[in-house]
Amino acid sequence: MSNQNDKIVFSGAQPTGSLTLGNYIGAVKNWKTLEKEYNCLYCIVDSHSLTVRHDPKEFNKTSLSFLVQYLASGLDPDKNIIYFQSHVPQHAELSWVLGCNTYIGELNRMTQFKDKSEKHKDNINSGLLTYPVLMAADILLYKANLVPVGEDQKQHLELTRDIANRFNNLYGETFPIPEPHMPKVGARIMSLQEPTKKMSKSDENVNGTIFLMDSEDVIMKKMKRAVTDSENNVVYRDEQPGVKNLITIHSRLAGISIDEVVAQYEGKGYGALKKDTAEVVIESLRPFKDRYNEYMNNLDYVENIYKKGAKRAYELAEDTMTLVRKRIGLIQK
Ligand code: TYM
Repeated sequence: MSNQNDKIVFSGAQPTGSLTLGNYIGAVKNWKTLEKEYNCLYCIVDSHSLTVRHDPKEFNKTSLSFLVQYLASGLDPDKNIIYFQSHVPQHAELSWVLGCNTYIGELNRMTQFKDKSEKHKDNINSGLLTYPVLMAADILLYKANLVPVGEDQKQHLELTRDIANRFNNLYGETFPIPEPHMPKVGARIMSLQEPTKKMSKSDENVNGTIFLMDSEDVIMKKMKRAVTDSENNVVYRDEQPGVKNLITIHSRLAGISIDEVVAQYEGKGYGALKKDTAEVVIESLRPFKDRYNEYMNNLDYVENIYKKGAKRAYELAEDTMTLVRKRIGLIQK
């Protein structure tokens, strides 16, 4: 962390399944852009994933694979602090303190809590409810100014800001109020099968989701099967959510504007849009796959990266916790 601009960026993703095109376009692609200017921490938020039942062996593998997927996305380990949340215990410590300053009513209102409670009816555990407090702790622990996320995390970010303000008012200025950083286009990539629903890692219909690890054949098949409509007219509008989603993906990955994509397909059918968009996805993920394999063959180097990351994150976290403990009146160690 040695950039001129002393603003701090924090973000993370849960290691469940595998990174999706939604995660990539909505968040990770932006992380890479921000590394040039800011001091960034990119965390694998493994403790968050414990809120749903998991197989320990599988989870262990997935967590490591996620870290490698961060690296394969092009994040520079020398520029960014890349680490596992569970390696820095202050996340849990601050989460407790912030939880004592968060109202149950606020947590009950979170749409993600409502969705997940609906989905995991047999396991509505307290971690699911307090999840946003841990997320606030992740961000505030590093006094982050900017949080690059997709649109679905907006409500959690708003709660984080409320908690930070409340803490500052009660105990004195401690945390900067973090700002969300969302892409103008692509903050919500939709399922290819149900384009009114967000693309998700845990969608039961795998055809709705493109995973960065999908083979080229699978990407082509999923794209060709993407649900559109009967208009057969490539227009970017809410009434045609499937087509709008394909145009968004195309635009973000080809680095051209929405208008340019629309102009390219004037008078052409959806078939051409689907096939070309699949090719754009395949092309932009090719370096990802090569880098993924390279890192996987060099796991000592990967271990070195996350250990170094955790050490640095720990130091920063401890600075904040020393201040927090003092602010709330705990006896200094
Ligand atoms: P997670 O793991 O669900 O997703 C990681 C990031 O990807 C974004 N995202 C999307 N963006 C656009 N379209 C989509 N379909 C899509 N799906 C996911 C998410 O908005 C997110 O930015 N609670 C967080 C993880 C977290 C976190 C944090 C994030 C924990 N602590 C602190 C930022 C800061 C989550 O479950 O993201």
